[in-house]
Amino acid sequence: MSVQVQPKRKTINDIKAQKGRAPLVCLTAYTTPMAQLLDPHCDLLLVGDSLGMVLYGMKSTLSVTLDMMIAHAKAVRRGASQSCIIVDLPFGTYQKSPEQAFENAARVMAETDCDGVKLEGGAEMAETIAFLCQRGIPVFGHVGLMPQSVNAAGGFRSHGRDEVEAQKIKSDALAVAKSGAFACVVEGTVEGVAREITKLIPIPTIGIGASVTCDGQILVTDDLLGLSNDFTPKFVKQYAALGNEITDAVTRYAEDVRERKFPEPEHCFGLKLGGQNNG
Ligand code: KIV
Repeated sequence: MSVQVQPKRKTINDIKAQKGRAPLVCLTAYTTPMAQLLDPHCDLLLVGDSLGMVLYGMKSTLSVTLDMMIAHAKAVRRGASQSCIIVDLPFGTYQKSPEQAFENAARVMAETDCDGVKLEGGAEMAETIAFLCQRGIPVFGHVGLMPQSVNAAGGFRSHGRDEVEAQKIKSDALAVAKSGAFACVVEGTVEGVAREITKLIPIPTIGIGASVTCDGQILVTDDLLGLSNDFTPKFVKQYAALGNEITDAVTRYAEDVRERKFPEPEHCFGLKLGGQNNG
C-alpha cells in the first residue's frame, strides 16, 4: 500500500524565514478551481481585493466588501492545501481604528481559516499593524502604489521617482516591518527604491512592478494568464493568452450549435431499447 504524503501547509514563519533566500512565488487566487491549479506552484496565495476589478468589473477596489472577501477566501481555502493563504482587508474595514481592524481581521481569520491578512499603508498604519500582530493576527503590509488610495495618489502610476517619494516609501516599509508585519508587498515602485527597501527591512519584500531585486514576486493571476480584457500594466508578463483561447472555443461552440453539429451522438443519452440501456 502506498501512502501519499501531503506537503505541509506553508506557515507565516516559513515565509518570513525565506528572506534573502530563494525567491517567494506568490499569486492572487479568488476561486476553488484556480486555487487548486496554483497551489502546488506557490508559496503564498493572496485573496486580493483586486477581485473587485478582475471578477466583478468594478472601476477600482474601493467598493469591495468584507463579505465578498470572506466568500472568496473560503473558496480558495477549499482548493489549497500547501500555500500560505492571505486575505486582503478591503477599503473602509481597518482604517478607522486598530479596534475596527482587529474586529474585521478576526472575523476573516475565524471564518476562512486563512493564515493572515493584508492591509495597505505605511507609517500611518503602524499602530494598527502592531495592534493586530500583538493579538495573534499575522499582517502582510503593502506600500508604494496602494490601489485603495488611488484617488488620493493621483491614479495608477509608478512611485518613488523623486527623492521625497523615495524617502516616504522607505520609511513606510520600515514602519511596517518594525510594527511586526511578516512580509510586505512593494507595488509600482522604481527599481532602486525597491532594492534599498529589500536591503533595509528584515522581512521579505514581495514585488509587483518593483523589479527582480525583491525577495519574491506577486502578480494578479488573470493578468499573467492573459484573461484581463482591459488595460494590462507594464509590469505584467503574460505567460498565456487564455482570453484568445476562450474566444476561439466559444466561437466554435456557437457555430456548432447554430449548425446543429453539437451535440453529437456520443454526447447524448440513448433510449432504453428492449431492456438494454443504449448509453
Ligand atoms: O489586491 C491584490 O490583488 C493585491 C496584489 C496585486 C498585491 O493587492
